[in-house]
Amino acid sequence: MTDLVEGDRLPLTIGAVAHGGHCVARIGGPHGQVVFVRHTLPGEEVVAEITEVHRGYLRADAVEITVPSPDRVTPPCPWAGPGRCGGCDLQHVAPSAQRDWKTAVVREQLRRLAGCTEHELDALGVRVEALPGGELGWRTRVRYTVDAGDRAGLLKHRSHEVVAIDRCRIAHPAIQSLDVTGRAWPASDAVAAVATTAGDVTVLDSAPVAADLLDEVEGTPLTGPETVRERAAGREWTIPAAGFWQIHPAAPDTLVGAVLDLLDPQPGETSWDLYGGAGLFAAALAGRTAGARVTLVESAPAAVAAARANLADLPQVEAVAARVDSALRRRRVTGPVDLVVLDPPRTGAGAPVVEGIVAAGPRAVAYVACDPAALARDVGTFRDAGWRLRALRAYDCFPMTQHVECVALLTR
Ligand SMILES: C[S@@+](CC[C@H](N)C(=O)[O-])C[C@H]1O[C@@H](n2cnc3c(N)ncnc32)[C@H](O)[C@@H]1O
Repeated sequence: MTDLVEGDRLPLTIGAVAHGGHCVARIGGPHGQVVFVRHTLPGEEVVAEITEVHRGYLRADAVEITVPSPDRVTPPCPWAGPGRCGGCDLQHVAPSAQRDWKTAVVREQLRRLAGCTEHELDALGVRVEALPGGELGWRTRVRYTVDAGDRAGLLKHRSHEVVAIDRCRIAHPAIQSLDVTGRAWPASDAVAAVATTAGDVTVLDSAPVAADLLDEVEGTPLTGPETVRERAAGREWTIPAAGFWQIHPAAPDTLVGAVLDLLDPQPGETSWDLYGGAGLFAAALAGRTAGARVTLVESAPAAVAAARANLADLPQVEAVAARVDSALRRRRVTGPVDLVVLDPPRTGAGAPVVEGIVAAGPRAVAYVACDPAALARDVGTFRDAGWRLRALRAYDCFPMTQHVECVALLTR
């Protein structure tokens, strides 16, 4: 134990990256107390300021860089850095090194939580790939919190304190030009802005949340349409502005491509699209399986309605309005099934859902995951049931942030 308190400063040598947008350092040698340090890179020598003291570990920000990493760059956003906007974690990291960082995190989670060996991870060739479009201007959904002076801004890291930024550099240009942060919002606690691939823009009266990155926004429209159009996977979609859609404009096509490539659906194969949203993967599966039944399960009523409307030309797709766990438990959806796409929220699917899928005996499962820790836990459950992790693709769908999207192929 140390007797350090918040605000204390000390020199640290920075070790490996860890899940959560920080690196690990230790006070007083290799077995010393763990400090999770933000705004730094492996190998750097820094002066760190303690930001939180916990029983088994500390949190800190690197406030002075004594020996910089060759991968360090000047953040393109003036609001990024210790004590400033918490929206991005990796503005100080060169783009290719951001992907190396995320590759290391994915490997570490699979090692720790799924029991994968280094040899297995090498054989999988895990490597986070860039999406087209660069590191800025990709974020099509932004939630701003309104401060006591009625100004909208973004939250500090692990805080409810609002930072009055001018504009968010990773936001889509159509959102940056809205000037959400330049006007007063006396009647709102939070506002969310949505910009789509088909050119629609909606601003919603929303609720404040402390999460840093959200692909699901909520609220009622203040300006712009209530339903917005998206173009993805060769189709035009009409979806509620408040609801889930992939944040990066290139993510839907990238993820659909990966899922189809890994599953290799064959004519006549039946499939499930679990946590199906508006039906992105169900439509892609239906396009390959020649009229075989596709069952989508989704719990948000508005998303189910969107799936039914968007996929009305695909009569082989049935959309079931249910929680996936209860749909499996109550046999609302029953096996056998050939293919499963599993795209749960950040918390993952959980053991009962994985066990329900295993019991239905599919040939292959494509697991789309926005949290590598949740993915690794569920992969561990598949492995305990005798399944194998056959392939893993990973994509930088969230540049400048710690987040990464994975698509895993699991087979019996
Ligand atoms: C990561 S999104 C994926 C949506 C869709 N696959 C897509 O790519 O557009 C997760 C979806 O799961 C839904 N969801 C959350 N918890 C659920 C549950 N327990 N059962 C069914 N759906 C759930 C959310 O409403 C959301 O639409």
